[in-house]
Amino acid sequence: MTTPAPVQHPNIEVSIADGVQTIHIRRAEKKNALTTAMYAAMVEALEEGAARDDVRVHLFRGEPGAFSAGNDIVDFLAFADGMALGKDVVTFLKALATADKPLVAAVDGLAIGIGTTMLLHCDLVYASPRSVFRTPFLDLGLVPEAGSSLLAPRLMGHARAFELLCLGEAFDATRAEAAGIINRIVPQDDVMAAAFASAKALAAKPRQALAAARRLVATGGSASRDELMARIDEEVALFAERLASDEARLAFAAFLGRQK
Ligand code: COA
Repeated sequence: MTTPAPVQHPNIEVSIADGVQTIHIRRAEKKNALTTAMYAAMVEALEEGAARDDVRVHLFRGEPGAFSAGNDIVDFLAFADGMALGKDVVTFLKALATADKPLVAAVDGLAIGIGTTMLLHCDLVYASPRSVFRTPFLDLGLVPEAGSSLLAPRLMGHARAFELLCLGEAFDATRAEAAGIINRIVPQDDVMAAAFASAKALAAKPRQALAAARRLVATGGSASRDELMARIDEEVALFAERLASDEARLAFAAFLGRQK
């Protein structure tokens, strides 16, 4: 049985079934670009899921063809114009970094910017063959975020992390699998089912053993929480500076003013 959860936002749909809380990003007309309000709704969902007994695992999914095109560039421009750098964005990043329950993701299509970096916090990621992972931070005059400057080199080595985060190269699904960003490539129509099946299997494990094992693997395989939180803060400070730079403003204006 699927239980609707209380979080209500037109672009973030939350449901709970079989111990799995599905957080569905739904803004297809903008390729699932994330606004401040959407981050706030996802934080609320994660907090709600953390507190609920009937939620054992969080699962993120997007729309067909677009997991997420990253942060909304209109919001980036608003930050550049003085809107305080998304408290909600930072809270979301920290909620990912400190989640106690496992994080699973189903990706089909575009995973850009935070659409890729949030996956580095996930325990299991399934993606369709047409998925593309890209972090054009430097081209936008920005720097890597979401702890990716720490997590990506540990995951895939300095050389590949530099291609992804600094050169801004697009990784196709095969390359993302080889780099360890995703667990498995799954046919497009089966991605959500594969992710849900693994999430459900995790949710059925003995609760305390799952929590203990995840803590061990997460801190052993990547970074300790304190180190990760400190890196997120360091990145956020630089990111805020960069958002106000001429380099970034020009890049945002070029995107928003482009002729299609
Ligand atoms: N912020 C705001 N709007 C975005 C967006 C973003 N990150 N990504 C896509 N959109 C919007 C487009 O402006 C367009 O809106 P419109 O129809 O009102 O003009 C709509 O989503 C569809 O995007 P479009 O560019 O027409 O689709 P596409 O298939 O040709 O290209 C992308 C898709 C994702 C490759 C392209 O939109 C893109 O490069 N987006 C920016 C990605 C980015 O730099 N994110 C920030 C990372 S830090």
